Amino acid sequence: MSGQSGGEEALPKLISEVQDDEFRTALEQHLSQARAEVERVFELLGEEPSAERCLGFEGLKAEHEKMVEETSDDLIDAVDLGAAGRTENYEIAAYEGLRRMAKAMGDEEALELLDSNLKEEKEALRTVDKIATRISNESANKAQPDRDRGAQSIADGNDRRAARRGSQRERGASFPRRAV
Ligand SMILES: [Fe+2]
Repeated sequence: MSGQSGGEEALPKLISEVQDDEFRTALEQHLSQARAEVERVFELLGEEPSAERCLGFEGLKAEHEKMVEETSDDLIDAVDLGAAGRTENYEIAAYEGLRRMAKAMGDEEALELLDSNLKEEKEALRTVDKIATRISNESANKAQPDRDRGAQSIADGNDRRAARRGSQRERGASFPRRAV
């Protein structure tokens, strides 16, 4: 229920930041799904949807904005995926609380709808985790050649130092002979 959890309010902004195609498509699909969820919930309640302030989500949003300011452009997707994961977990916790209340009150219709929303949020979290794993692996693979180059340059440096030591020994061995 976006009116309570607030996660989907910031999705359009997040979508505009994202560089990865699979991540952008997943966010766009989740946004339209979330809007449909809100409509179903309010239809069930017979009320008009209205925005509601959520302090928890405002905290997540403020944290994300600070992280974006401090992050280089090529790491924005990783930061956005972290924000999406935290938001989905927050929404899952909110839905779990609501479904417990609906169950305790014996409201079968609300329970069914909340279960369906909870399932969609858990699916969204699995998608975020899957994309985050792929992007982390891709970043690690991109960094790998640099690490290899670094290791090679250390090895080259060791070879050069060993060669210098060898030639110094040779020179050192020749000095006494010449001195004699
Ligand atoms: Fe969500």
